[in-house]
Amino acid sequence: MRVLVIGGGGREHALVWKIAQSPKVSKIYAAPGNAGIAELAECVALKATDIESLANFAERNRIDLTVVGPESPLIAGVVDVFERRGLAIFGPSKEPARLEGSKVYAKEVMRRYRIPTADFSAFSDPQTAAEYVHRRFREGARGLVIKADGEAAGKGVFVVHHVDEALEVIRSLMEERVLGEAGARIVIEEVLIGEEASLMAFTDGVTALPMPPVQDYKRALDNDRGANTGGMGSICPLRLVTPDLQQQAMEQIIHPAIRATRDAGIPFRGVLYAGTMVTEAGVKTLEFNVRFGDPETQAVLPLLENDIVEVMQAAVECRLDEVTLQWKPRYAVCVVIASGGYPGKYETGLPIEGLEEAAQVPECVVFHAGTRKEGDRIVTAGGRVLGVTALGDTLAQARGRAYDAVRCIRFDYMHYRTDIGIKWV
Ligand SMILES: Nc1ncnc2c1ncn2[C@@H]1O[C@H](COP(=O)(O)OP(=O)(O)O)[C@@H](O)[C@H]1O
Ligand SMILES: [Mg+2]
Repeated sequence: MRVLVIGGGGREHALVWKIAQSPKVSKIYAAPGNAGIAELAECVALKATDIESLANFAERNRIDLTVVGPESPLIAGVVDVFERRGLAIFGPSKEPARLEGSKVYAKEVMRRYRIPTADFSAFSDPQTAAEYVHRRFREGARGLVIKADGEAAGKGVFVVHHVDEALEVIRSLMEERVLGEAGARIVIEEVLIGEEASLMAFTDGVTALPMPPVQDYKRALDNDRGANTGGMGSICPLRLVTPDLQQQAMEQIIHPAIRATRDAGIPFRGVLYAGTMVTEAGVKTLEFNVRFGDPETQAVLPLLENDIVEVMQAAVECRLDEVTLQWKPRYAVCVVIASGGYPGKYETGLPIEGLEEAAQVPECVVFHAGTRKEGDRIVTAGGRVLGVTALGDTLAQARGRAYDAVRCIRFDYMHYRTDIGIKWV
């Protein structure tokens, strides 16, 4: 089989790494890929959002299966374009991808299908939104969460504690449109208290097969300080989510959301991801994503025993009921090494050293995110540079190995968190 992976981050390196282990696969392409992916796949200089060119490429190169990493092409309808041309592709169509593309839509689905989530209201008018926050704080709310409706690459959510702060967020999103059309509408919801867990499942629109629960670390600095990022590390499995809680989440969150997409006419196929808060009152939904998480995937896929290509093909062909997922009874820890300054401004083009040494650490793989080749050197090319992942019999062993490998790696101004998973050891 010939497989095309769309994207070029750490998630896509983990996908390519896992796909390359399939005996069914003879050739992998990645668009655009990165320096790590280039060791396993042929990288093609196409943007993940250049849908027409990607479809032309898949047709010309007789691609048997395309796998989509990031959300943007899914929300823009890459799956619809491929399917219209008879090309097999793993991921949801444009309609069900609205679960991630519009937070207002997602919350409406949650309300209609009684999916546990924070109480909310949606607004398309800043004046009404302002009146609402005044009222909520007058009634004694300690805080509120304000979310831009549209795609905001993780920059559209604000937890606020004062009226003035809330009004400022409303103004910048809805009037100044600092995030463009994403702020045309907003969701305002109650603050949930608890631990966050990422729950992902493969689905063909009817059957859903869960992956083990993951925790990701969004803040830039240790002890969850600093700015929100795309993710600074992840651990799997997160034992806090017991098998009972996981089953509850499948019944109350994942299955109803899939049912909603069936009822809307186009069943969800691909990976459905519920971002959740494990509260004292059970697991509640923060959001839906319509693809693999990054860096969750870097910690999950090394634990999967199955041939992932068989799983994805079964999902595309609506016969996921024939598949049983097998997971290694081990732990995985992924530590992201970022460029100094990320998620703000940072330099690129800095040479990375120690990659071979890091790969010598037992049961460790270094997934590349923002890297590129410059002559025979590998240099930094993005905010998140590497996802250093290790397995162990215990979380402590996996952590120890991941950090042993991290300490082998050097580039100027590199930054990583030292507390990934420490809470659960
Ligand atoms: N209702 C809520 N209560 C508390 N924290 C929240 C709530 N909603 C979101 N958050 C926090 O904001 C982060 C981002 O929100 P999320 O809905 O996942 O949007 P996105 O990932 O698109 O930025 C969450 O990971 C969580 O830390
Ligand atoms: Mg999120």
